[in-house]
Amino acid sequence: MQLIDGKATAAAIKAEIAEEVKNIVAGGGKQPHLAAVLVGHDGGSETYVRNKVIACEQCGFKSTLIRYEDNVTEEELLGCVDRLNRDEDVDGFIVQLPLPAHIDEQKIIEAIDYRKDVDGFHPINVGRMAIGLPCFISATPLGILTLLRRYDIRTSGKKCVILGRSNIVGKPMAQLMMQKQYGDSTVTVCHSRSKTLKEECREADIIIAAIGQPDFVTADMVKEGAVVIDVGTTRVPDASRKSGFRLNGDVKFDEVAPKCSFITPVPGGVGPMTICSLMKNTLAAGKKEYYRQ
Ligand code: GUN
Repeated sequence: MQLIDGKATAAAIKAEIAEEVKNIVAGGGKQPHLAAVLVGHDGGSETYVRNKVIACEQCGFKSTLIRYEDNVTEEELLGCVDRLNRDEDVDGFIVQLPLPAHIDEQKIIEAIDYRKDVDGFHPINVGRMAIGLPCFISATPLGILTLLRRYDIRTSGKKCVILGRSNIVGKPMAQLMMQKQYGDSTVTVCHSRSKTLKEECREADIIIAAIGQPDFVTADMVKEGAVVIDVGTTRVPDASRKSGFRLNGDVKFDEVAPKCSFITPVPGGVGPMTICSLMKNTLAAGKKEYYRQ
């Protein structure tokens, strides 16, 4: 069994990005600039956004954090998106999700200029991704593809089972694993209503678990030699930690790991790769790699 080290891979990629940024700036080019909009004080979102700002520093990017209280109106937020769309110094920006219930999340996403949508959530990017055109690919699926590639894990023709059908992970992951230029796998998507979920998993060469239920994938669901990618990051109470919680994956790691050829840990697997992929997208935005503005 080989552990897939997302933390080390992300650090290596961020160092590569920093080197490229140094060369761009030395050559008189523009320093990439990522803006992040954070609404409210949700603990998880605060941590994600803080880590994104730190990653920008590590990559040599400029970053701007824009904060609003929970009671921000949809209009105010749309105004902010509009300003960021028109700000020529900002190459890409994200609005951290989830947003408070009184704000229409989809309306905000669709207001973002797709050429600055480094999250890859805008329907134009989602659609272009689905038909294999150059676009911003959402960060978690892109991070997983990068890990599979860096660890030289063969996916072509393999049976890949994806657990979960979210817009952020399950759906784009299925699209990408299916496509010839990315995973080139045979893909099955299972979710909370799937009757044959366990049977599908048992036949899978690759399992990508993004169902959001701690310890959901158990040893009896995994074939000997399978590759298991754990996207779960549920906060579970843990009195022994200073923070009062720990992150728990969707996979029962201790019993599943011995059966795997490769497995990602939680934390230190997919998580660091998600932020690193956002940095990759921001660099591409700065270089106008996919779209002219
Ligand atoms: N909330 C959870 N994951 C993400 C992400 O990748 N981007 C944004 N904007 N919000 C999130």
